[in-house]
Parts: sequence; structure tokens; C-alpha cells
Amino acid sequence: MLDAKVVKLINEQVNKELYSAYLYLDFSIFYEQQGLDGFANWYMVQAQEERDHALLFLQYLQQNGEKVTLEAVAKPDKEMKTLMDPLQFGFEHEQYVTSLINDIYAAAYEVKDFRSMQFLDWFVKEQLEEEKNADDMIKKMELFGNDSKGLYSLDSEYAQRVYTAPSLVL
Ligand code: FEO
Repeated sequence: MLDAKVVKLINEQVNKELYSAYLYLDFSIFYEQQGLDGFANWYMVQAQEERDHALLFLQYLQQNGEKVTLEAVAKPDKEMKTLMDPLQFGFEHEQYVTSLINDIYAAAYEVKDFRSMQFLDWFVKEQLEEEKNADDMIKKMELFGNDSKGLYSLDSEYAQRVYTAPSLVL
């Protein structure tokens, strides 16, 4: 049995990760409408990754014999007007997710739940990558996004992203 607070936070994280998937799907739809299929692809893959994160949290609870309760997933409510908007919202969102992972980690640490801490280590590392990716996309957009050739080149780069299953195996 896991600590009740740790279970509650992980259960909530299932919902937060599903929301992340939903948010990035919204970004993907936005870019597709702008004719930027590469950016749309990048966020479609990102949405798949977020779904995987949700499933990993869900399965971790199941493996520990805990009940999972699914709640409604909130509607993505970011108002996107410029090509930069999703990138900035994405970076802010990943910083928020990092804070959530840290909160779960702190709860596990408090009750000496080393198993959950070990499980969460993967997400701590993953968040470093998530924030870096989001920050890199902003920087590249600032550097190249105002020029049509630069934007085309970025879009072509993001079109190359392919989905791979998470490296964490439960
Ligand atoms: Fe599930 Fe983007 O962190």
C-alpha cells in the first residue's frame, strides 16, 4: 500500500498528463490550420508522449494495488493568436508540470516511499528534456521564425519528429 497523499497526487497526475495531451493536440490543430504541418506533427507526437505519461502513472498505481479514478479532462483554454503563442504556452506548461512532479516527489520523500521516488526519477529527468525542448523551440522561432525561408526550414525540421514509446518500463 502506498501513502494516501502520494496516491492522490499520482491519481491527479493521470488527469494532468491527459490534459497535457489535450493541450498539445490543440496546438497541433492550430498549426495545421496555419499550414505548418511540421509544427502540427511535432505537437501531435508530443500529445502521444503525454498520453503515455498518463498511462505510466495509471499503471504504477495499478501495480501497487491502488484504485485509479478518472476525472473529466479540462478543455484547452489557451488563446493562440501568433505562431509563437503555443511555444510560449508550452514552455510555461512544462514548468508547471515540473512543479507537479516535484510535489509528488516531495510527498513520497516525506514518508520514505523510496519505490515511488525511484519511479518518479524518470519523470524528473524527462521534465528537464521537456523544458529544454520547449525553450529551444522558442529560441529557434525568435531567431528564424520571422523569415519565410527560416520558418519553412523549421517546419521541415519539426516534420521529422517521429513517435517512440517511452523508455520507462514498469
Ligand atoms: Fe508529461 Fe510534457 O510532461
